[in-house]
Amino acid sequence: MSYSLTVNGKQVTVDAGAIDMPLLWVLRDVIGLTGTKFGCGAGLCGACSVLMGGERFFSCQAPARAFIGQPVTTIEGLRDDPLGKRLQDAWVEADVVQCGYCQPGQLIAATALLKANPAPDDAAIEAGMSGNLCRCGTYPRIRKAVKLAAAGGKA
Ligand code: FES
Ligand code: FES
Repeated sequence: MSYSLTVNGKQVTVDAGAIDMPLLWVLRDVIGLTGTKFGCGAGLCGACSVLMGGERFFSCQAPARAFIGQPVTTIEGLRDDPLGKRLQDAWVEADVVQCGYCQPGQLIAATALLKANPAPDDAAIEAGMSGNLCRCGTYPRIRKAVKLAAAGGKA
């Protein structure tokens, strides 16, 4: 028996043998969506962030079965969301990215943040992004890009 997940608006069929596998591994190794990154595997770094509905989840922390019937958005689908597109454009405008490894998770977290609070102040940005670590220290540019997107962005 197989089961279905809805990822980036499309139904994908997954072998039932992978039903207890954490969603992160199903996304990367079964479905082939490698934009979502593995960092700590322990819910500490945010690299594996995905949206379920509008909320951010650490995909390393929940089995795929928890997402049956729940729409999942990964970084590969973020541009189809007007807010996700605005954030990605702001990320380019603010030249946020350094090595890039953490950035899919950062963009997912920023999308969840602005969905919940369209005009966050510095403290709200810090709180909303606090689950996502960046070893390159891009935090000031992330804050700038979030503000740019919140203000409507250039795009
Ligand atoms: S890999 Fe999931 S929180 Fe770090
Ligand atoms: S840009 Fe390198 S880890 Fe964040």
